Amino acid sequence: MQHTDRLIGESSVFLEALEHVSLVAPLTKPVLIVGERGTGKEHFAARVHYLSARWDQPLLKLNCATLSDTLLDSELFGHEAGAFSGALRQHQGFFERASGGSLFLDELATTSSQVQEKILRVIEYGELTRVGGKNTIEVDVRLIAATNEHLPSLARQGKFREDLLDRLSFDVVTLPPLRYREEDVVLLAEFFALGIINELQRDYFPGFTAKALDQLKHYAWPGNVRELKNVIERSIYRSQNPAEAIDELIFDPFKSQFLQTAAIAVAPKNNEITESASEPRAENIWQNFVDSQLDYKTFFDQQEMEVLNCALKHCQYNQKQTAEFLGFSYHQLRSHLRKYGIK
Ligand SMILES: Nc1ncnc2c1ncn2[C@@H]1O[C@H](COP(=O)(O)OP(=O)(O)O)[C@@H](O)[C@H]1O
Ligand SMILES: [Mg+2]
Repeated sequence: MQHTDRLIGESSVFLEALEHVSLVAPLTKPVLIVGERGTGKEHFAARVHYLSARWDQPLLKLNCATLSDTLLDSELFGHEAGAFSGALRQHQGFFERASGGSLFLDELATTSSQVQEKILRVIEYGELTRVGGKNTIEVDVRLIAATNEHLPSLARQGKFREDLLDRLSFDVVTLPPLRYREEDVVLLAEFFALGIINELQRDYFPGFTAKALDQLKHYAWPGNVRELKNVIERSIYRSQNPAEAIDELIFDPFKSQFLQTAAIAVAPKNNEITESASEPRAENIWQNFVDSQLDYKTFFDQQEMEVLNCALKHCQYNQKQTAEFLGFSYHQLRSHLRKYGIK
């Protein structure tokens, strides 16, 4: 994550998010960045830091979901020698090392209540105690946190501390999913294409065919910008002839002639998951739409309901897995199920 990294996008929702960050960056208050996976939260966090008066001080980052509760505790707040078996030396935590600068905590929603309480103390009073320590240490850290969860719902369920949420929600920057940034898809695709062309040391980028561009624009991008980057890079490096425009986009790297699973038909009539990989999808939908004689909205509501039902069945009605499968947060799934009255 460099401050020289470019953030690509011209859509109005994207520009609004950039503008929001520029407004909030100069303050010393904590910032919460909310967005689906792959929407650029880490990039935006860096932007907050580099547009603040702390830009020449450290920006440290830690993904809370990758550490156990006890490890996270000692990584964030440090520990004294002998605090636990294996703690041979004194260790400065992230908050101490980021002092004067900013700390980016990714996937904050996964932290334990005890850790949340300690984070609150740091941002409220600027002090902490190392694990196994007695002394209070003063730090001055600007907290930038990110999550793809809806924290107020988690707080209502007792899974996130209300007091920390109050402190964090001074202002919330919400990043738009890529499917709401239609104009940006091709821009980003070309940007990532040039990157991989450069990496492969090919002479020039031959462009995309009209078919490929059309697919890029119509895909839903559940994995957002990260997924787009992968699709573009994969499709280019696997292309046979470097001089020929890219025609074949490889969306699913797991797709294999030996595997007969996955792919859900867009409108399975019998509520079953059926194989559709070999059929031209767009034409399928069009035919179904014409056949249905429904209006646009009713047709797509019905499609959505079908997909939700099938996905639930596919995941043995485990809502957490279903959410993951569909690229939703748990709460997004719940609200969709509620919308269609699915139990
Ligand atoms: N607007 C953008 N312009 C260029 N690259 C982007 C943009 N947004 C995201 N990316 C790229 O997409 C990938 C995912 O971004 P990241 O910030 O890690 O997402 P998140 O933290 O929300 O999961 C990274 O490779 C990042 O460089
Ligand atoms: Mg991330």
